[in-house]
Amino acid sequence: MDRSQAAKELERLAKLISQHDYLYFTMAIPEISDIQYDALIKQNQELEAQFPDLRRLDSPSHRIGSPVSSQFDKVKHRKPMLSLDNVFNEKEFLEFQKKLRRFLKMPEDFPIPTVAEPKIDGLSASLHYQDGQFVLGATRGDGQAGENVTANLRTVRDIPLHLLGDSFPKSLEVRGEIYMTLEDFEELNKSRKQQNESDFANPRNAAAGSLRQLDSTITASRPLHFFAYYAQNLEGNLTKTHSELLEKLQTWGFTVNPYHKLCNEFGEMLAYYQEMQETREQLNYEIDGLVFKVNDQLLQERLGVVGRAPRHSIAFKFAAEQAETVVEDIILQVGRTGVITPVAVLRPVIVGGVTVSRASLHNEEEIRRKDIRINDTVIVQRAGDVIPQIVKALENKRLSTSQIYNFTDNCPCCNSKLHKTPGQIAKRCLNGFGCEDQAIQRLIHFVSRDALNIDGLGEKNIAKFYGLNLITSPVDIFTLEGRNQSSKESIENWEGWGKQSTQNLWDAINKARTIPLDRLIYAIGIPQIGQTTAKLLAKHYKTFEKFLENIISVNQNDAKVYKELTEIEGIGHGMARDIVDFFQQKHNLQMVEGLLQHVNVLPCEVSDNLPLSGKTIVFTGSLENISRSEAKSQAEKLGAKVASTVSAQTTFVVAGSNAGQKLKAAHSLNVTVIDEAKWQKIVKDSTAQS
Ligand code: IVH
Repeated sequence: MDRSQAAKELERLAKLISQHDYLYFTMAIPEISDIQYDALIKQNQELEAQFPDLRRLDSPSHRIGSPVSSQFDKVKHRKPMLSLDNVFNEKEFLEFQKKLRRFLKMPEDFPIPTVAEPKIDGLSASLHYQDGQFVLGATRGDGQAGENVTANLRTVRDIPLHLLGDSFPKSLEVRGEIYMTLEDFEELNKSRKQQNESDFANPRNAAAGSLRQLDSTITASRPLHFFAYYAQNLEGNLTKTHSELLEKLQTWGFTVNPYHKLCNEFGEMLAYYQEMQETREQLNYEIDGLVFKVNDQLLQERLGVVGRAPRHSIAFKFAAEQAETVVEDIILQVGRTGVITPVAVLRPVIVGGVTVSRASLHNEEEIRRKDIRINDTVIVQRAGDVIPQIVKALENKRLSTSQIYNFTDNCPCCNSKLHKTPGQIAKRCLNGFGCEDQAIQRLIHFVSRDALNIDGLGEKNIAKFYGLNLITSPVDIFTLEGRNQSSKESIENWEGWGKQSTQNLWDAINKARTIPLDRLIYAIGIPQIGQTTAKLLAKHYKTFEKFLENIISVNQNDAKVYKELTEIEGIGHGMARDIVDFFQQKHNLQMVEGLLQHVNVLPCEVSDNLPLSGKTIVFTGSLENISRSEAKSQAEKLGAKVASTVSAQTTFVVAGSNAGQKLKAAHSLNVTVIDEAKWQKIVKDSTAQS
């Protein structure tokens, strides 16, 4: 056989074997015998041995995995991999339904057909297909970028290496959930125990651990599965409704969870939720609730995204699993931001398959409210991925030895007086880097992957450097190399270090001297400011100087600047107060100013080529056809800034009926005023343009 014949034959085999994989693994209706199947595999193997460079990306030989040693590469997602908001009861679910209608400006009882799907307790993956071939697979990571685990995903039998049929888009991304069945999980743990290896806490951890193996032959030996629940291509939606999309996915050879159901009205959704709560017990994989997704994809687009979650979907979680145990002690922990959290030390008990030996009691008030005492018998619960909590103490089982817990006024670590912010329940230690527990956690956070990402400074090393007084604040990290050079006890002579590791550490630290603005804001550890909020702040203030200058002027009671801060979508008053308070503490400001001597902060470059970039819009009055929130979201999607007051900086005002003060202000400032119809035309024209 010559090269071109071999190439053709390999293509034929890849497609044919994919087809038989689907019939065997997904449909359980094999059309050929195992012997015939093995013969096809062998034929493929032999041809590949003869023409190694003709091995295809969708070749069945990838199913067995291949040993790799390097790290996983990062993959930036084309569109962020979002998460879901949760509701836990009927009332909250009804509120979600109402919110949909309010946003879409529909009457309260307007039907919005919605698809219910089990929420699989696994981990999400994104799969890329080019001309039908599976070419790239990634984990979710932080939602913006994940890890390239293509070789590992190729070993998952539910994932087609070549799409079935020929009516698929040229380029396609499919998303879904990787999971492990309960039996396979138990089997795996059993064999790990026999080999003296630690067992996995639950099937989800087992699936995650198996997928993130650098050696994909190990992944191949672990029975992973995949349910597809979403697909997109660059050109936009592939279908008009979510149900059609699920059907399409099946025709391409994916396994879609069989328990999805299109519900037309609220009662039907609730009934299905109840039905599935019972069905759950019989499933051989874990689900922790149902995901409800608005079926109409045009509505999905209109609803858009808020924070990290789409408005069109919600996870309606199942009730938690419970167990009874005893509170053996109550201890206090100091968190990264100084918050003091009481934690119940429990007699270990299994709840929903996981051993629970500690549960947060949140704060003093919670202990009083639930009247939980040391030696009490309590009910603990765990709901899916939610951390264990104490539901209540069983008063009828209370012993005479039970002791009421007295919360201290001083930090359990550094003994400084605890502080209570008015309006907040938690007590806080404000000693910052002066408190050992806090300092270590703040440093760990500072160097963590999503912050400065300094490899070689893991938790253990941070604790060690702290203990030796070598790193007690973030600034010390950047002066460590200099101090080390003049030290008699050079790090490279420490046990377990050596020249190379030390050099790697300097390299990692030096790399972190240049840092994007949002990462630095996240890294300095302002209470409540996670990655998402840090990004919002970076996007708004653009440079660290401007951010700092603004926040410090708030300290001097600049009401205008404070208002500007709270007007950033996603930043409420609580967060704004925490940001301001953070910089009010001298030691934090000093730390940040010290840091700026050592790091170069990259300004936040916002794409300013969106159709309405640089424009500031104010909405006023009541709009007829869309809600105010939707109008705002339309404007922001197109790059505009939405403000709540009219000023000379306002580009135009969109006025609905009954507009009052703002309309007046617009007229007196000579700002252009347009009506709703004109606004919709701008949206339509700009959307076509972008
Ligand atoms: S849709 C817009 N559907 O739940 C978010 N997610 O909490 C896209 N998950 O990261 C997810 N089953 O890992 C969707 N039927 C399902 C799901 C599901 C499990 C996971 C997924 C996601 C997480 C969000």
